[in-house]
Amino acid sequence: MRLTTLEFWAMNNPVRRFVQKRLEFRLFQEMGLTEPGKRILEIGCGSGYGARLLSSIKPASYVGIDLMPEQIERTKGIDLPNTEFAVMDATDLSAFEDEGIDYVVVFGILHHIPSWRTVLSEIERVLAPGGKLFIEEPQKNSVKLLDRLFRWHVPEAGFSYAELETGMMDAGLEILRTRAFGFFNSYCAQKPA
Ligand SMILES: C[S@@+](CC[C@H](N)C(=O)[O-])C[C@H]1O[C@@H](n2cnc3c(N)ncnc32)[C@H](O)[C@@H]1O
Repeated sequence: MRLTTLEFWAMNNPVRRFVQKRLEFRLFQEMGLTEPGKRILEIGCGSGYGARLLSSIKPASYVGIDLMPEQIERTKGIDLPNTEFAVMDATDLSAFEDEGIDYVVVFGILHHIPSWRTVLSEIERVLAPGGKLFIEEPQKNSVKLLDRLFRWHVPEAGFSYAELETGMMDAGLEILRTRAFGFFNSYCAQKPA
């Protein structure tokens, strides 16, 4: 789902980048997002700041996808090795072969996608056995509260954490670690080897 104008602005400013780097990326690193040489897919990469953060672990390759051409336009000028960006809907990852990705990274996207369970199935399909999903998401109540505070006018979508966790397990992923922090939960889940 496309972002509203206000949320687009909220996702593309220094405060958002500070939170993504100092909290969200740090939590992913504590959960094991540290190994170099991995094939990484970031879903909902936005303006590409995640690619800059992930470059610090020296991936073998990185692909960032986002539904909004305006976001991918903002990635122009990012010059990192083996890095690509593409406009793509996360509910259809058929551009990626089965089991060709080691890490899938998601910084707060699924709550925007009504058919988020389809995205989880696609993630499971593209992950190599033993591959990992690092995901952070707010649950429905947090989205509603943030929406009331900031008036982003995010359309109704989303899930409770229990629904998200069940969704990951139903897709065939095993949840290895969970961290609750403020408005979001972070998870490391694995496709069984
Ligand atoms: C809340 S923003 C987060 C952007 C960035 N990851 C960040 O943390 O700043 C959600 C992003 O998901 C993208 N998005 C929404 N629905 C999508 C879909 N179906 N497929 C791919 N990207 C999607 C939006 O365009 C937006 O860039």
